[in-house]
Amino acid sequence: MIVLGIETSCDETAAALVNSDKHILSNVIHAQIEDHQPYGGVVPEIAARNHLVHIDSVINKALADAQMSLVDVDAIAVTAGPGLIGGVMVGVMVAKAMAATLNKPFIAVNHLEGHALTARLTDNVDFPHLLMLMSGGHCQILMVQSLGDYTVLGKTIDDAAGEAFDKVAKSLDLDYPGGPQVERLAKTGDVKRFLLPRPLKGRDGCDFSFAGLKTAARNIILAGEIKTDKDKSDLCAGFQEAVKDCLVDRLKQAFEMVSVDFKTVVLAGGVAANEYLRSALTSVCHDYGKEFVAPPLKLCTDNAVMIAWAGLERLMRGQCSDLNFQPRPRWPLTELKD
Ligand code: KG4
Ligand code: ZN
Repeated sequence: MIVLGIETSCDETAAALVNSDKHILSNVIHAQIEDHQPYGGVVPEIAARNHLVHIDSVINKALADAQMSLVDVDAIAVTAGPGLIGGVMVGVMVAKAMAATLNKPFIAVNHLEGHALTARLTDNVDFPHLLMLMSGGHCQILMVQSLGDYTVLGKTIDDAAGEAFDKVAKSLDLDYPGGPQVERLAKTGDVKRFLLPRPLKGRDGCDFSFAGLKTAARNIILAGEIKTDKDKSDLCAGFQEAVKDCLVDRLKQAFEMVSVDFKTVVLAGGVAANEYLRSALTSVCHDYGKEFVAPPLKLCTDNAVMIAWAGLERLMRGQCSDLNFQPRPRWPLTELKD
């Protein structure tokens, strides 16, 4: 079986074809970073209009790269939420129109489920597994029990981890998205020079909080302490170190909280690009006898392969959606259980 996946929930217009033998036949992503860079973050209205402009060519390229046409596709899967609703509606309307005219199944995919299932495609990870989902918009630790059955162990009570990276970067006049810039500067920085808070570290549960950390970093900038490149690097290093300590502490907490036996911890979302954080989390996993998996970067950040795959997992179980499915700006994973 072959599924066409479509993703338009944030600032990537993406389409991909994946088959049930776990082969990625094509993976096309049109990123809009330059359109949003002047504003230091994603502007929903601009994103939605851009999706409308690019969606046709992105889908056509996905078909061409796979050397296929629409008749070869068994179903159309699309992100139907959560996300920026203007963009989600663009993808959903295109997918519904295609499914209706081709008379093929339509599958409304939860974007977070896409992230949650990717490692099953890329690394053959089995249920159940633990997922740390760390992006610009999402920050949670989940137990992925089976398809549609997810338990949220903890989530952020304010900013997402990637969002904190982006905001600190913005305060330092670095380009958006800030994560890669902060990681780059942190490499030559002194982690001990600026002592920053580790919100919620040592507390029960495994919720996250990054607002206080971000504000502490910003206060150092406002106090005029950051003048040279070396100052910038030291602040980035101190900030990244604090994020690392928080993630490590929360993951250890999750290990304590979970009673289900599981083998693997999966890190997904754009923050998984951060090598420093990845290596810290890998070593915690090894200490606890767990395998650590981060899908290839292109599949960790937003993409349509994960949507096609989540659609396939559902299709293979005989599930598809009604054509009157309403796009959902908010759609917690815990609401997917039948
Ligand atoms: O998953 P993603 O592409 O989009 C969503 O937010 O859904 O994640 C983007 C986020 C941004 O906040 C970006 O700054 C962060 O991931 N990010 C990083 C790194 N690369 C991207 N954060 C820390 N270190 C990085 N190397
Ligand atoms: Zn995402």
